[in-house]
Amino acid sequence: MRRIHRDAYWTPPEVAAPVFAHHYFPEPVWEPACGAGNLCREMAAWGYEFVATDLLEYGYPAQRAQLDFLTDPPPGPFRSIVTNPPFSRPESDGRPRRGDNPLRRFLRRACRHYHPEHVGMLLPAQGGLQDAYDLSLVGDMGLRLVVFPHGRPKFGHGDGRPPRSLPWPAVWFVWERGYTRPASIVPC
Ligand SMILES: C[S@@+](CC[C@H](N)C(=O)[O-])C[C@H]1O[C@@H](n2cnc3c(N)ncnc32)[C@H](O)[C@@H]1O
Repeated sequence: MRRIHRDAYWTPPEVAAPVFAHHYFPEPVWEPACGAGNLCREMAAWGYEFVATDLLEYGYPAQRAQLDFLTDPPPGPFRSIVTNPPFSRPESDGRPRRGDNPLRRFLRRACRHYHPEHVGMLLPAQGGLQDAYDLSLVGDMGLRLVVFPHGRPKFGHGDGRPPRSLPWPAVWFVWERGYTRPASIVPC
C-alpha cells in the first residue's frame, strides 16, 4: 500500500446518505476517489451500479484500478461521477485555498473534460462553495441540487487517527448536463 496522505478522509454514512435520498444519478456511476469505499458502500446500499477507482489503494475490495483522475483515462463507460474529492494541495497546510488546487482540478475534470450526465461532489463549504458557484456560471452543467448534511459529523482518517470533525461543513453539490432551472437547496 502506498503512503496515505492527509486527504484520506472517509465520508461517514450520515453525510453520504442524504444526497442519494434526494437525487438519482444515472448509472453506471464512477467514484474516481473511492478511498476506503465509504461512498461506494452507500451507493451499493441504494442499489447503484458503480465502478470505483482511486489514485492510491486503501484496501477497498471493489476498487477496480489505481488511476489518477486528473490524467488517466476512465476505467470504462459511465453516466455520472460521484465523489468526495481531495480538498487540499499536498504541499499545503491542509486548509482549502482558492487557486489551482486539486479540488478545482477535480471539478473541471469532472464537469468540463468528462461532461457526464450528472456530477455529485461533496465540497467544503469554505472555498468549495465559491469554486462550485464559479463553475456553475460556465458551460451547460447546471447546478441542480445543494444538500447540507446535518450537523458537524466526524470523518474517519486513513491513517487510523480517531475520527474528527472537519474545520468547515461539507456540502453536496449536484450538477446535471443541460439543466437550466434554479437549484434546489435541501437542509437535512
Ligand atoms: C477525501 S478522500 C474521500 C474518499 C472517499 N471518496 C470517501 O468519500 O470516503 C479523497 C480521496 O482522493 C484520493 N485522491 C487524491 N488525489 C487523487 C487523484 N489525483 N486521483 C484519484 N484519487 C485521488 C485520495 O487517495 C483519497 O482517497
